[in-house]
Amino acid sequence: MLFTSKDFGPGILELDGISKKTVEEHLKLYNGYVNKSNEVMEKLAKVDLATANQVFSDARALKVELSFAVGGMQNHEIYFSHLKRGGGEPKGELKKQIEKDFGSYEAFVKDLKASGLSGRGWAWTVWFPAAGRLMNWVGDSQNTYLSWDIHPILALDVYEHAYFLDYAVNRGAYIDAFVKNLDWDRIAANYEKARK
Ligand SMILES: [Fe+2]
Repeated sequence: MLFTSKDFGPGILELDGISKKTVEEHLKLYNGYVNKSNEVMEKLAKVDLATANQVFSDARALKVELSFAVGGMQNHEIYFSHLKRGGGEPKGELKKQIEKDFGSYEAFVKDLKASGLSGRGWAWTVWFPAAGRLMNWVGDSQNTYLSWDIHPILALDVYEHAYFLDYAVNRGAYIDAFVKNLDWDRIAANYEKARK
């Protein structure tokens, strides 16, 4: 097995405003992405390259869906690893960068929420080296609208499975709860890594 599911600790089941049941079910989906990433990698090693074709071929199907499976695994690893009850607000260098790029923490949250309401699957806060700034980026799926050398430091899952049990279709209320549970020490570590 190339990939193994990460353990996010018992605290992930004790969030404020995102129920244990939602997280338990959500973790099952995450494990599914890890398993499928392994399955696609194994099948790719044995695929008949001579049959590669852009309309349909096993090589095409596996290569396209690998991005979906690995994206699903990685997006959820960012998401679950920076959620914990108690949350807080950004500090230090990350706080300064947020204030530089968005004006204030409150304005950042407003932009993140709008991004989450605009995406059909994900919103990420990314460090965008070419622009020299943080941005909130939108994705409709596990593998859409990505670009090169853009580093996600925060991942907001807005698929309905992330909130429907708790909030039905009120995605905005879920995003408010998500923000309350953000572990900014973890996000700061992601940011530090992205800046290197
Ligand atoms: Fe999800």
